[in-house]
Amino acid sequence: MNAPISRARTSACRVALVGFGTVGRSVAKILCDSTNGRLRLTHICNRNVERKKQPWVPSDVIWTEDFQAVLNSDAEIVVELIGGLHPAGDLVRGALTAGKSVITANKQLIARHSTDLLQLASANRCQLEFGASVAGGVPVLPALRTGLCGDRLHGISGILNGTCNYILSRIETARIPFSEALEEAQARGYAEADASEDLDGGDARAKLSILALAGLQTRVAPEAVRARTIRGVDALDFDYAAGLDCTIRQISRADLKEGTLFADVGPSLVPASSPFGRVQRNLNLVVTSGHYGGDMAFLGAGAGGDPTAVAVVSDLVFVAESLSSSQSSSQPRGAHSHWPQQFLAPKVSCDFETPWYLRFLVKDRPGIIARLAEILSAHELNIDAVLQKPGFDKAALPFVITLEPCCDSQLHPALEQMAALDFAIKPCLCLPILR
Ligand SMILES: NC(=O)c1ccc[n+]([C@@H]2O[C@H](COP(=O)([O-])OP(=O)(O)OC[C@H]3O[C@@H](n4cnc5c(N)ncnc54)[C@H](OP(=O)(O)O)[C@@H]3O)[C@@H](O)[C@H]2O)c1
Repeated sequence: MNAPISRARTSACRVALVGFGTVGRSVAKILCDSTNGRLRLTHICNRNVERKKQPWVPSDVIWTEDFQAVLNSDAEIVVELIGGLHPAGDLVRGALTAGKSVITANKQLIARHSTDLLQLASANRCQLEFGASVAGGVPVLPALRTGLCGDRLHGISGILNGTCNYILSRIETARIPFSEALEEAQARGYAEADASEDLDGGDARAKLSILALAGLQTRVAPEAVRARTIRGVDALDFDYAAGLDCTIRQISRADLKEGTLFADVGPSLVPASSPFGRVQRNLNLVVTSGHYGGDMAFLGAGAGGDPTAVAVVSDLVFVAESLSSSQSSSQPRGAHSHWPQQFLAPKVSCDFETPWYLRFLVKDRPGIIARLAEILSAHELNIDAVLQKPGFDKAALPFVITLEPCCDSQLHPALEQMAALDFAIKPCLCLPILR
């Protein structure tokens, strides 16, 4: 083992790191490599900490298992990187109450508790930043907080979950079944053993609710956003999508219109040549739409220790500079926070108007299309096209109907009626077509 490094004492901002896992370790590396002297790592806190110790960490850094030791210390900023709601929430509250600024990458905590935590930070004249909680290393939250705050944004959409994008883009390029793409993502460490939170949209909608907070100044609980799973998408759907000059991606979107937040997360057809269609593997893309500046796109690594650590350390530099300038001026500590104190709490709806892709799987017999057309017509839904590839077994025959634009609420009752038909092997896969 290398000998621990010792450092001269400086007036740099003191930083305590809680959670020495994938991201925490990368953050510590950057802080220990840093030569600019603005930030000084003072504590590393983790359960069973003995096994975590590293020779490259300076010898004066205190390794501890005790959160209270961190809260009682002279650290000015606490970095929370343990994840989850408990005990991370108590730690963040404890740090803010003790007047310490907090940096976190914890999307679940921020998506649910950002407004009360921001208020607690403000009441204690300290700061809360969470730039790494959405899109990992892609600096979209700082861009929303500062670079785009001069615009009036009305929409944010994105590919926010690298696991889903890896799986869908692998099915697209290799035409492998969903199950095989999932196994491959798990083997490469891009998906957890239980990947439900990613596949079923829970992870992406937590991130969408943070983007809506930062960009649209709206407070929306993640659970209020409809999440549709990608599990039903198969290689065949990419063949049909290609016939429509499209591909399939998990898209998260939020549009603020006349006091309602239209929001949805799930697999969607997008033009193959569009920015969304071109995002491959586990990258993230966020597109913002503003009244004045139009569309802006942010693309990059949405996960991984080092890219995510860059976002955490960038927040650290921002808060350290802010603390230092407030100390050297007459302003109270924490006066530089860029977060508004008031947020809208709009009605949340998933009733977007779009064209639709419906893929059926049926036991073939004469009159199926006629029966489906009858139901669609009874709900005043117009068919755009009927697509059927040859060569499939008549006992489980797939085909596609695309619909002209209509609202989700208009389509839903027709879908229920069609799912109950005796020739339907399972409910049709229903995907919006986003042009
Ligand atoms: N990894 C990414 O690419 C990424 C990207 C964006 C955001 N994030 C977010 O960053 C945060 C950290 O993620 P990560 O990937 O670094 O997680 P991780 O590798 O699981 O690291 C978490 C660390 O915290 C420790 N820990 C967990 N619970 C603890 C407790 N109750 N008391 C003390 N220590 C505890 C763990 O110790 P053990 O070793 O004992 O488990 C581990 O060292 C999460 O909020 C995550 O959502 C991660």
